[in-house]
Amino acid sequence: MKNLKQALFSLAVFFYGIGSWGQNYEAQVDSLMKLMTLQEKIGQTVMYGGSWDQTGPIVGTDNGKLIREGNMGGMLNAFTVKGTRDLQKVAVEESRLGIPLLFGYDVIHGHRTIFPINLGMAASWDLNLIEESCRIAAEEASAEGLHWTFSPMVDVSREPRWGRISEGAGEDVFLGSEIAKAYVKGYQGDDLSKSNTILACAKHYVAYGAAQAGRDYHTVNMGEGELRNVFLPPFKATVDAGVETFMSAFNELNGVPTSGNKFTLRDILRGEWDFKGFVVSDYTSINEMVPHGFAKDDKDAARIGMNAGVDMDMMGGVYKDYLKDLVEEGKVSEAYIDDACRRILLAKFKLGLFEDPYRYIDEQREETTKYKPEFLNKAREIAAASSVLLQNKNNALPLSTSTKKIAFIGPLVKDEYDILGNWAAKGDRQGKAVSVFEGISEYLKPNQILYAKGCEILKADTSGFEEAISVSKKADEIVLVMGEGHHMSGEAASRTNLKIPGIQPQLIRKIREANPHKKITLVLMNGRPINLSDEVDFVDAILEVWFPGTMGGAGTADVLFGNYNPSGKLTVTFPRNVGQVPIYYNMKNTGRPIPESNPGEDYKSNYIDAPNSPLFVFGHGLSYTTFTYSNFKLSSNKLTNSGAITASVTITNTGNKDGHEVVQLYVHDKVGSVTRPVRELKGFQKIFLKKGESQTVSFTISADDLKFYNSDMVYGVEPGTFEIAIASSSDFKFENEFELID
Ligand code: BGC
Repeated sequence: MKNLKQALFSLAVFFYGIGSWGQNYEAQVDSLMKLMTLQEKIGQTVMYGGSWDQTGPIVGTDNGKLIREGNMGGMLNAFTVKGTRDLQKVAVEESRLGIPLLFGYDVIHGHRTIFPINLGMAASWDLNLIEESCRIAAEEASAEGLHWTFSPMVDVSREPRWGRISEGAGEDVFLGSEIAKAYVKGYQGDDLSKSNTILACAKHYVAYGAAQAGRDYHTVNMGEGELRNVFLPPFKATVDAGVETFMSAFNELNGVPTSGNKFTLRDILRGEWDFKGFVVSDYTSINEMVPHGFAKDDKDAARIGMNAGVDMDMMGGVYKDYLKDLVEEGKVSEAYIDDACRRILLAKFKLGLFEDPYRYIDEQREETTKYKPEFLNKAREIAAASSVLLQNKNNALPLSTSTKKIAFIGPLVKDEYDILGNWAAKGDRQGKAVSVFEGISEYLKPNQILYAKGCEILKADTSGFEEAISVSKKADEIVLVMGEGHHMSGEAASRTNLKIPGIQPQLIRKIREANPHKKITLVLMNGRPINLSDEVDFVDAILEVWFPGTMGGAGTADVLFGNYNPSGKLTVTFPRNVGQVPIYYNMKNTGRPIPESNPGEDYKSNYIDAPNSPLFVFGHGLSYTTFTYSNFKLSSNKLTNSGAITASVTITNTGNKDGHEVVQLYVHDKVGSVTRPVRELKGFQKIFLKKGESQTVSFTISADDLKFYNSDMVYGVEPGTFEIAIASSSDFKFENEFELID
């Protein structure tokens, strides 16, 4: 077998030039494909999993046999140098053509060194830091034999009930698109053939984040305008940034499952956007078209998936089992199989796998790359930069190292497990992670620290309350570290109740009752917007640290003690209660908005039992210093279609501490041929100002920034009046306008 393979390769080298490893990958792919049988081409479209991790049903396979027979193109959840070498060896040395395997894994917010969950990192509004986190993730993952991450998740979501909101950048299309590009750049670098860069994968295509009622995998119905204006742009941004792969989603969209959706996969992705990479299904999402009621059986699902443009079947086994028959029966065109195979091989060529299939497999690199001190330092910085100071009554924060005694109370104070959050790849939950307790121990002497766990995250057992209350009474100040468990967000973790889970809210209330005049800070770990309507009254400060990762406790302590001035801002709205959901900043006005002059007026678009406004708005986040915005200027109040205007403002740090500010540009298109959101983020800059310092921040606006899809799905701008503001959150009143003229 081996000799035959070598003979075929020599022939290929002779006739087609394979082996003259230039950059002309397309020609090399064509050459290779001339040697392949239909069955071998189909083999490239098949992906199965190793046994390391599992996120869905395991479909019975014999991996070794499939690889040897040329019936597998990629694997997920198989990594480590040892694991990938053994598998790659079978592919390269024992299969007829020796085509190397592609190894993919969910490296979502770090591989070994874990960064804050993605929703947390988004709150840093720091594209450089996000890109750096992905660069580090790629370094660590590639050093363990991985070529491909199933990240970034660029699903816009306005659904706090949906557990996977934790994996994305939040509710905004503009910010989400910028962040999406940063992820792709970080993972893929500037040269995929380097052994420390990996393929990125934009997922889940598309509109998965709009699941009905926030229930995972649920139905999505939306007009094409909303799809194109809100849910598609972050995916388009990844294509512009050169993303190599896409993942089709689990959900149906307007009656058509997205893993069998010709319109989104062939017409938009390949047609309109000219995407050259390949599409992998989500885990058995092709098979799931049967229970969706869209395919009559697995064979039918394989037909629909391939015809719609899903190039690789993750875990489903239906391409392997049925594509050959479907081609022979004339139900799937061989040209589609060729196209899918070509795209997959092209990615392998770009990674340099044909030159050296073992190039990512290096024991020494594996050993020396994980948890490098510089990676851990960066993780600490990102943890601090991602935390959002939601409330700071009585200047409860920062804490002082000279306070006599501080009580740290709650189930997450000493936690090293949940702190990594969901989808934490191979992050070590048993020893590497720095808890909040360890973090604060860098700042306080042991005799200044009091501790009580108080309760568990979910259990109803109140037996620890007494000790917690007694500890709280002995302290000068109190810090509660509470929140969700890591498994309460992420995939298949939707919630109908957005409160801090279990009996933790009861404990908060009791601690306040026992200490009516002490400063109480709540440090929150969670993977979604939480309903804090009660807690805002019981505690002074609230610091949202999400699940902050391996160095989370250290980064959190840096913020608590003022060594890092918090600068994170929410990228998702925090509602007052679950009944307000969906609630997001860039909603529409309705025909009956609540009049400012008479908020109580009847028959307006409101609730009778809660305000329309959320508890914390998109873009909100406090600092230990204060910033004032003054001197707003527009270079002109007329913008032409081909021209540009500049909006600028002076920001002054008027407080007593140096700090970062996220400066946000918002626009409102007052009248459109289709109604436009009440405000839309169109730019942002994160600046650093020393205390007392001022800086002028400018944004350039051109007609391109104001384009949208109209009801004929034409992308363009419409002349008219636009309101404009530069602000520190999405909560402001517009005071300025400009005119877009033809
Ligand atoms: C998830 C994907 C993930 C895949 C592979 C699926 O269940 O939806 O996001 O990449 O599993 O683990």
